Amino acid sequence: MMHDPLVLYDFTRERLRAAVEGRLPDGVDAEAFCADIAYWICLAVTVRSQDWHAAFSEFTDAAMLAWAAEDAESERRELDLIRRELARARGPVLDVGAGWGRMAALYAQAGLTAYYAEPAALGARLMRRAGISAAVGARGEALPFPAGVFQTTVIGWVLHHDAGDVDAARLLREAARVTEPGGLLLSVEPLDERFGQTKWLSLLAAAGFAARRVETFYERAKSRGDVSRHTLFTGVRLP
Ligand SMILES: C[S@@+](CC[C@H](N)C(=O)[O-])C[C@H]1O[C@@H](n2cnc3c(N)ncnc32)[C@H](O)[C@@H]1O
Repeated sequence: MMHDPLVLYDFTRERLRAAVEGRLPDGVDAEAFCADIAYWICLAVTVRSQDWHAAFSEFTDAAMLAWAAEDAESERRELDLIRRELARARGPVLDVGAGWGRMAALYAQAGLTAYYAEPAALGARLMRRAGISAAVGARGEALPFPAGVFQTTVIGWVLHHDAGDVDAARLLREAARVTEPGGLLLSVEPLDERFGQTKWLSLLAAAGFAARRVETFYERAKSRGDVSRHTLFTGVRLP
């Protein structure tokens, strides 16, 4: 199997297009689905050393495809809320754990200058290929920026990996360091029994972020009977 992350990504995306043709629920954008899932498969292979065939079958099995409509609806609601918050936010923005730059179009629409920190080489390279030059390869626990330079910080779908690839407490302390006092924090997480709202809110408070609003915009049943609550925290960096 090829090792260059971008070559692997393009190959995977092409194979996905063929594998999902005619199998996605109505209303799911096949291109967006393939872009998203290709990233996950390639991260599983390049970061977690998973076998490509195993990851590909896992992400394209019937249950995963059936969930695509729910995921698309959750994302529509999430992006509406983020758009609403960005409309009254100030830049520059820092997106921590930015993935492949899913939020970039929203920052541009809001007229905000944005910087992106992403430790996975694939994510940083996909962003640069898409013309996002302000993408740096960095973990959220060690951000290569001076204190207080960002007016808005966004952390999406990263903290729930706590105790895995992420040390959520350290990452949030770093986010607090680089966010100007009085600045805005947007944090989105899928909350469940493992990483629940109480833990998330106490980590945010301990790092110095005061909640303005906590909104659950989607609830989804998971395979083991657990429920995932997709939730946005809007808060302010305390002085
Ligand atoms: C679920 S994705 C979310 C991507 C993006 N924030 C979004 O909302 O589309 C999680 C991302 O966090 C990144 N990540 C993993 N460990 C991290 C860390 N310690 N600091 C920052 N990002 C991390 C992963 O590489 C991945 O791109």
